[in-house]
Amino acid sequence: MRNLEMEAAKRLLLLLFLVSLLSISTATTTRKFRARKPCKRMVFYFHDIIYNGKNAKNATAAIVGAPAWGNRTILSGQNHFGDLVVFDDPITLDNNLHSTPVGRAQGFYIYDKKGIFTAWLGFSFVFNSTEHKGSINFAGADPLMNKTRDISVIGGTGDFFMARGVATLMTDAFEGEVYFRLRTDIKLYECW
Ligand SMILES: *[C@@H]1O[C@H](CO)[C@@H](O)[C@H](O)[C@H]1NC(C)=O
Ligand SMILES: *[C@@H]1O[C@H](CO)[C@@H](O)[C@H](O)[C@H]1NC(C)=O
Ligand SMILES: *[C@@H]1O[C@H](CO)[C@@H](O)[C@H](O)[C@H]1NC(C)=O
Ligand SMILES: *[C@@H]1O[C@H](CO)[C@@H](O)[C@H](O)[C@H]1NC(C)=O
Repeated sequence: MRNLEMEAAKRLLLLLFLVSLLSISTATTTRKFRARKPCKRMVFYFHDIIYNGKNAKNATAAIVGAPAWGNRTILSGQNHFGDLVVFDDPITLDNNLHSTPVGRAQGFYIYDKKGIFTAWLGFSFVFNSTEHKGSINFAGADPLMNKTRDISVIGGTGDFFMARGVATLMTDAFEGEVYFRLRTDIKLYECW
């Protein structure tokens, strides 16, 4: 009799345990599912013209730091490892460098791996157009050779107060070591 009761109690406990596991996993799934729907989505392009010793007037980016084996005129060897570039690039709504900018992409990138092309980006989109006012701040690793890369949207001001999310970068054009254009698909998961 006692043994039977014990057995029944054990089974009940096991059942309770399984039910609680199930509810935890359902809760996690629901949360993930909700987080996958952005509250705001925007696509912009920004254009980086790197100084190459001849285009000082036109350049929007400058090498400000280079490793001892390189210089600040031309990106160094070994996949530009150690180069630090500061930029103030025009942001446009389409992929045309000559379209009227809606703001500036301002910040820096550091090439941070010898073996492959990869960089770390820290920059802001500073908007000053009739449509958008304020800024969006970005940070993250940019493995340039991948077709798309996700970086973090870590905050914002003005129209983008407290913004958080992810931005998917895609190299839309790449011309020599002078010009590149990044398509930035911004998905905000927190909007105010
Ligand atoms: C500035 O540089 C870009 C990229 O190399 C080029 O397409 C554009 O024609 C240049 N503009 C001027 C005025 O030189
Ligand atoms: C800078 O480095 C590049 C490539 O390593 C080289 O071709 C160029 O001559 C160097 N320029 C100066 C001013 O040292
Ligand atoms: C924003 O644009 C206006 C009008 O063109 C200009 O007066 C103002 O100085 C700009 N502000 C910034 C921060 O660029
Ligand atoms: C970049 O691409 C490589 C090779 O295709 C892949 O292994 C890696 O996970 C990718 N990295 C990111 C951050 O997407």
